[in-house]
Amino acid sequence: MAEQGFTPPTSEWYRPTADMVKQANVPDYDAVYALARQDPQAFWAKRAAELEWYKTWDQVLDDSNKPFYKWFVGGKTNMALNALDRHVTTWRRNKLAIIWEGEDGEKVTLSYWRLWQEVNKFANVLRGMGVSKGDRVTIYMGRVPEIAIAMLACAKIGAPHSVVYGGFSEQALASRIEDAQSKVVITCDGAWLRGKIVPLKVTVDEAVTRSPVVETVIVVKRTCQEIQMEAGRDYWYHDLMALPFAKPNAETEVMDAEDPLFILYTSGTTGKPKGVLHTHGGYQVYTSTTLEWAFDIKEEDRWWCAADPGWITGHSYIVYAPLILGATSIIYEGAPTYPYPDRWWKIVADYGVTILYTAPTAIRGLMRFGEAWPRRHDLSSLRLLGSVGEPINPEAWRWYHRVIGEERCPIIDTWWQTETGGFMITPLPSVALKPGSATRPFPGIEVDIVDDDGAPVGANEDGNLVIKSPWPSMIRTVYGDDERFISQYWEKYRDQGWYLAGDTARRDDDGYLWVIGRNDDVLKVSGYRLGTAEVESGLVSHSAVAESAVIGVPDELRGNKIFAYCILVEGAEGSDALEAELKAHVRHEVGPIAAPAQIEFVDNLPKTRSGKIMRRVLKAQALGQPLGDLSTLED
Ligand code: WTA
Repeated sequence: MAEQGFTPPTSEWYRPTADMVKQANVPDYDAVYALARQDPQAFWAKRAAELEWYKTWDQVLDDSNKPFYKWFVGGKTNMALNALDRHVTTWRRNKLAIIWEGEDGEKVTLSYWRLWQEVNKFANVLRGMGVSKGDRVTIYMGRVPEIAIAMLACAKIGAPHSVVYGGFSEQALASRIEDAQSKVVITCDGAWLRGKIVPLKVTVDEAVTRSPVVETVIVVKRTCQEIQMEAGRDYWYHDLMALPFAKPNAETEVMDAEDPLFILYTSGTTGKPKGVLHTHGGYQVYTSTTLEWAFDIKEEDRWWCAADPGWITGHSYIVYAPLILGATSIIYEGAPTYPYPDRWWKIVADYGVTILYTAPTAIRGLMRFGEAWPRRHDLSSLRLLGSVGEPINPEAWRWYHRVIGEERCPIIDTWWQTETGGFMITPLPSVALKPGSATRPFPGIEVDIVDDDGAPVGANEDGNLVIKSPWPSMIRTVYGDDERFISQYWEKYRDQGWYLAGDTARRDDDGYLWVIGRNDDVLKVSGYRLGTAEVESGLVSHSAVAESAVIGVPDELRGNKIFAYCILVEGAEGSDALEAELKAHVRHEVGPIAAPAQIEFVDNLPKTRSGKIMRRVLKAQALGQPLGDLSTLED
């Protein structure tokens, strides 16, 4: 069952102006799509040749061991080679790589030269602390420039990073540290959010007690409150960066194209987070191509992806792809409404942002405050807008287009996933738009909408979204769990060899694609991805709860909100006080984004005879809809 639903206005068109088409990096989508389709390997090889390699590949695609595809086999490269090293030998050394603004108004700018030096220094620090190629490093930080420096330094020395979103709590952090077996954690004392301090280091301290594998914690000073530093384990970033071993030159590790670049944990259908693995070679090729073409990146652009670096959007499109392209990337630390609801519009005007990429939930949140806030600022620098994370409802799309884009800026609605590494279904600026549709697949990508047996569904019918052929930045495996990689994504259409996205979608009469929402036990809350099982295990870790089931119900602002059903242990009594306590417990155990909006205490849960909770039934009940087929219901 899809998480969200709306009736798409399939006949409402927004066509690009002739000027927009003429200056676009790809003026003719159909021609490029056809070209890529004709010979995908030649197409991707040509894109890869735009980047630097220590050694070119021997083979573009090795599909001899499906679904463990390999790209650019035999090629040698490093993300840091293309994102940094190659720029500092050109005029780009003087260009701004990162413009950062803190929530408190503090500003930092880093040229490519300066960023390269900082990354080199930190790479030397990590090496000096005993981190070597292949070691996993966990990064749990706020939105500060040092998070990009830390990620790039890990890439440079060949140590895969695992960035954990700073909104997760200690249990979530501990299980991710544990799964990756990270001996090093990089964090901050705290992060600013809505004028308050998020105490990151306190969470790390608790997580590290739960995961004794951690030997070293490196702490960036940001919020400057008193924190505990454990001698022999905790080190200040600025102290280490001042030591003689932190030299501004560092050798870049020569990596195989298929060597891991990072692990990023994401929610799946069980409580255990999945470590999605991406590699140095294909990921560079795909993320840089998609950004260059879908957002039409030009040398003079000021690109602002307003996501968090802790999610895939931030990895691919705040840090890596913009830097590969030599673009200027903007990072803002805090909340969009702090201190007033025009903070984002002020940033656009102050820095002359040309492209803004954000999530529907943020647009809806800012829309609530009315047009007066954006109208106070000069938004005329904007030329393109983007959306990601969940379906964008047409009302929000139109508001974004009219009020923020002043009817001048196409909206690039990008559908993709942590697993895909980069945009999969997206318009290019030369493509005609329909509000709420991500339009067409990116060149080189073959998607379809099929039923449970793999037969294509008809126009305007719902089905499972599948990807029919491999692409360079595809997930390589679930870290340490090849079985789960196969069962999650490839089992359902094993005979056909298709990738199962887990989303419901439909195609309209014009061939435009509409992604409706998840059809598995994954929830999208405010654009964040969460597993029902993660929230459920947070609930049952409270001593009063015997069993629980969690569903997502549509919410105007957040896309979905969490409803929880709990069976209590013998002797425990449901009450408002307990409901409040359980919400606080989940915030603490899993993270604030996982806190249920509502908890209901029940005596039993609808289950199949094999004991699986039928969330579909709970959801229909919560929404007052027909319960559907109950034949598999136990009793
Ligand atoms: C949803 C985020 C509709 C979808 C990059 C997908 C979208 C999940 C869109 C992946 C979009 C993302 N329109 N739905 N433009 N973009 N989604 O891994 O359900 O955090 O499967 O990656 O977000 O979430 P993830």
